[in-house]
Amino acid sequence: MTIEIIEKVFGELNALKCKTEKEVEEARVRFLGKKGEITALFEEFRSVDGDQKRAFGRPLNELKQAALAKIEELRSSAQASDAAEGSGDDLSLPGEQYELGSRHPVSIVRQQIVDIFRKFGYDVAEGPEIEDDYHVFEALNFPPNHPARDMQDTFFVSAGHLNPLLLRTHTSSVQVRTMEKYPLPIRVICPGRVFRNEAISARAHCIFHQVEGLYIDENVTFADLKQAILLFAREMFGADAQIRMRPSFFPFTEPSAEVDVSCNICHGKGCNICKGTGWLEILGCGMVDPNVLEASGIDSKKYSGFAFGMGIERIAMLKWQVNDLRHYFENDLRFLKEFEGATEV
Ligand code: DAH
Repeated sequence: MTIEIIEKVFGELNALKCKTEKEVEEARVRFLGKKGEITALFEEFRSVDGDQKRAFGRPLNELKQAALAKIEELRSSAQASDAAEGSGDDLSLPGEQYELGSRHPVSIVRQQIVDIFRKFGYDVAEGPEIEDDYHVFEALNFPPNHPARDMQDTFFVSAGHLNPLLLRTHTSSVQVRTMEKYPLPIRVICPGRVFRNEAISARAHCIFHQVEGLYIDENVTFADLKQAILLFAREMFGADAQIRMRPSFFPFTEPSAEVDVSCNICHGKGCNICKGTGWLEILGCGMVDPNVLEASGIDSKKYSGFAFGMGIERIAMLKWQVNDLRHYFENDLRFLKEFEGATEV
């Protein structure tokens, strides 16, 4: 035995590197196992002469302690890296991609309508979705037994009262609330959700959206109404859009009209969207009935006004040629993604 041999083993020990627990175990056997290098040195030590034992005993013990510590250190770092690999996670992979949502077509069109009327100087007003009979029907000049109050059309929240609570069937109720609290003149639009007790089909739904418009001032005439609707149609459907008005009936306007816009697909030639007529119906409108003004405390001799109401889904269907109303409410991503790039006015 020589000091050089002990130092050589020290050197080997210091240079030791192991990646896995298996390699650590092999190193332990190599140095400290039954036939290991250090174990062999201890065997040899037994036969060293008594006077030499002192010279070798201490370095030999230090070598063994150092080997035990080194093996322990290598084992714990190998365990840590084995654990990371064992989880099966590849930490170098890119993270999961979360898709950003996009705006719903109904929201896009509502915003476009609001933006157009804002430019014309209209304010935006909102009212409650759970309304009472007075604001939805009575103040709007619906006679007591008008069929629109029938259980078939209206979802009642509390029936049987004199003034029952119900889900509003149109945004015209917001006209009444606006006339009650706004000072004159009034120029507002009221976007909102409405509810009707209808069987769901391609052309009807029990929930949909409307935008209501109301303009009250001195000397407001039918010509003003026509001009407002024409300007709106041109902003919404293009500068060459034309409108036509057909006589109609609503309890809260007199006279009343329904408005068609020239078909923006075939430009009047006739196609299957406009069913060959060249025209598409977009809204109902009229001059506010004096009874409606008086019900909200407005002097109908001094003031006059016009009102209009349109369905947002309908306008969106015309804009994008959607042929089934149910698409708007089914949250099918294949449908919704088609509007990802749609821009505002
Ligand atoms: N409230 C009507 C409906 O839901 C739409 C309407 C027509 C609103 C004429 C109006 C109007 O303000 O003047 O069918």
